[in-house]
Amino acid sequence: MKTELTKKSFTLSIVAVLGPGRELGASNKLLWHISEDLKHFKALTMGHTIIMGRKTYESLGKPLPGRNNVVVSRSGRDLADVLAGLTDSGEVFIIGGAEIYRQTIDLVDKLYITHVQAPLPEGGADVFFPPIDPGEWKETERTDHPRGVTFPFPFSFVTYQRIGKQ
Ligand SMILES: NC(=O)c1ccc[n+]([C@@H]2O[C@H](COP(=O)([O-])OP(=O)(O)OC[C@H]3O[C@@H](n4cnc5c(N)ncnc54)[C@H](OP(=O)(O)O)[C@@H]3O)[C@@H](O)[C@H]2O)c1
Repeated sequence: MKTELTKKSFTLSIVAVLGPGRELGASNKLLWHISEDLKHFKALTMGHTIIMGRKTYESLGKPLPGRNNVVVSRSGRDLADVLAGLTDSGEVFIIGGAEIYRQTIDLVDKLYITHVQAPLPEGGADVFFPPIDPGEWKETERTDHPRGVTFPFPFSFVTYQRIGKQ
């Protein structure tokens, strides 16, 4: 995608939950429900603009409260136009799904990734996050959870900054 975002006044960030092989979802649903992660997502995004693909919006079923929900569709709002038209002064979040992550990972400043070390549900995943190139991204924060209150597998909240952009 050709979008010039070099002089922007806001931080553009991706938020995503990935399995051990960068799995994102299956049959237009998330793979796991981790209550700690939902709280983490809410704390990050509350009060901010969130940008999502039409399929992710359909999967959510309704706008997320307390946030400026922007849904992109090839028969609606164009992703490049939305990004070019943003006038925020804070942080703007790309919340998925796979198609939208793929088109924005080279544009964003930060990644908030929940890495989940859990078996995949039966049938596996049908959408994946792009590779996180260690030459481009530096881990700046990490919180490891050996398990959740109800989720029995390890997961970690990891923040990555684009190298050369502190
Ligand atoms: N694990 C996570 O953190 C996470 C987060 C979000 C979603 N997900 C999962 O990801 C899956 C959905 O991802 P997905 O890749 O199938 O779909 P998606 O990225 O949510 O949405 C794709 C749609 O976005 C629109 N679109 C794509 N590029 C566009 C552009 N340049 N301009 C305007 N519109 C554009 C198109 O809508 P039209 O077809 O209407 O033209 C396209 O069909 C689900 O399984 C969901 O649960 C996981």
